[in-house]
Amino acid sequence: MKITRRSALKSSALAASALALQGPRLFSQASASVDAHIDILPGEPIATISPEIYGHFIEHLGGVVYDGVWVGTDSKIANTGGVRQSFIDALRSVGATLLRWPGGCFADSYDWRDGIGAPSSRPARAGFWTQQETNRYGLHEFMHTCRAIGAKPYLAADMRTLPARDFYQELEYCNAPAGNVASNSAAPAVPNSLATQRAANGDRDPFNVDLWGVGNESWGCGGNLEPEEYAAMFRRFTAWTPSYGGVEPRFVAVGGNGDDVDFTRRMFKALYANTEKRHLFGLSIHYYTSGSPTEFAGGDALKFSDAEHYDMLARGSMMDGIIRDQWTAIQTTQQPGQPNVRLIVDEWGGWYGNGTRLGPTYNLSQQSTMRDALLTGITLDIFQRHAEKVAAACVAQSINCLHSLVLAMGDQSCVTPTYHVFKMYLPHHGAQAVRAEFSAAAIANPMAKPALQMDGINYAGPASGSRTLAGLSGSASISATNPKLLTLTVVNPHLDRPITTEIAVGGAAIASASGTVLAAADIHAHNDFAHPDAVKPAVAMVGAPSSGRLTHTFPPASVTSLQITLA
Ligand code: AHR
Repeated sequence: MKITRRSALKSSALAASALALQGPRLFSQASASVDAHIDILPGEPIATISPEIYGHFIEHLGGVVYDGVWVGTDSKIANTGGVRQSFIDALRSVGATLLRWPGGCFADSYDWRDGIGAPSSRPARAGFWTQQETNRYGLHEFMHTCRAIGAKPYLAADMRTLPARDFYQELEYCNAPAGNVASNSAAPAVPNSLATQRAANGDRDPFNVDLWGVGNESWGCGGNLEPEEYAAMFRRFTAWTPSYGGVEPRFVAVGGNGDDVDFTRRMFKALYANTEKRHLFGLSIHYYTSGSPTEFAGGDALKFSDAEHYDMLARGSMMDGIIRDQWTAIQTTQQPGQPNVRLIVDEWGGWYGNGTRLGPTYNLSQQSTMRDALLTGITLDIFQRHAEKVAAACVAQSINCLHSLVLAMGDQSCVTPTYHVFKMYLPHHGAQAVRAEFSAAAIANPMAKPALQMDGINYAGPASGSRTLAGLSGSASISATNPKLLTLTVVNPHLDRPITTEIAVGGAAIASASGTVLAAADIHAHNDFAHPDAVKPAVAMVGAPSSGRLTHTFPPASVTSLQITLA
């Protein structure tokens, strides 16, 4: 049976051939002893890398919230206020900036009022993923999770089953100040009743939520809407929404699926049908990389061939084209006086078939190997290279799900190779992205056919971008506090080829460098509860620079983070 995104959601509730060198080498000297060159160009700044691109996502789905995030206050498992300690610790240590909740598809039939108040009086209801929702974990528990991690909350509002009034009141419940509020009329100051209710439920201080997703995948599980229909709803949900305590809400509209720029263009055209200024910060786009080139949510997380490895990374790299195309769609529909909208990639990651579920009730859980670590590096580097376009992103999903950083069951827990990559990319947070030119032979995708069948597998648009995979890719940034400190992250996707690379910095000499590398002898390597450290980073063996340049060998199937100090 052909599995489309729709049916997947329903049912689950080197051959390396040398191609032309990529990119011009701007000032490196040709050298017979190296395989590749990286020219970092500090004179060509891109933008500050928004720390919010290192965001996360949890949904009421399978074992994500219950057992994953929430173990309960009376659990023997280490926790803070009922939230699994190992989850908090992992997300803290990767500097998680954003946490998106409660979905995903779950969000569009979720009533936030069901998850507040005394736990014993919260209703149990049917949730999106054909599972019973106890509502034990709700708005307050989520806010406490964010606080414990040090992440900002990013709420997805129910647009499919609740009216705009509920959204408006959710915002008020979260952000209105407690205590008497001046009426701005002849009426006396009195407390706001929703803020009073919030205080009675344990949180007097406002949650000050500024980032709001207005619906989720409204072209699909969020209502099967046409872009024009969605635009009309977005206008109604967001026009004249109040702000409290100086917190201006940043609204995120739903954009096209993957590379579906037609949806995006039509949505913006309809959105700007009149000249009233829209209240809009970002456009949400989602792109998942299936483990199979022919079906959505296919392939196996652990069992894959070399060809499937290259194919998956080639298709994952299409994120670059998607960002460019969606960005162009925004620019070409821009109207005078309307806000500058940036991209919010609030769901991304690898998505495989069911073969490696943690257990039958852990819907959509899967293992993560070194291949997923490479996809993580490739994706974060793409976001960093497009720092002026991408304002925020959330990996889907943080625990016990698709592209997870943490796996947990009962009292067992481990981190995945993806977790390590997020940690290695910490120095890029808030740094200045600069152009870096990579010159390396590309890898032909051994599974690419003249016309890849991409329809219905979470990608609408040209698939030509997946015919080759960069033989070496990455990104560079300059520290916001030290102009002489550069971070260079690099992914070598070759399974059996170390890539010896000459690294040069335009207009400057490299004084020294050090780094961290994540690599494993077998691309299928992964961590599990019995072997939590099977994959972990090591110190990279970095030599001394010569004539202001560094020659470094990137091991096969590796992600490397180099800290480069300029003279
Ligand atoms: O992350 C799993 C699901 O994928 C989300 O609920 C939905 O938004 C997307 O289709």
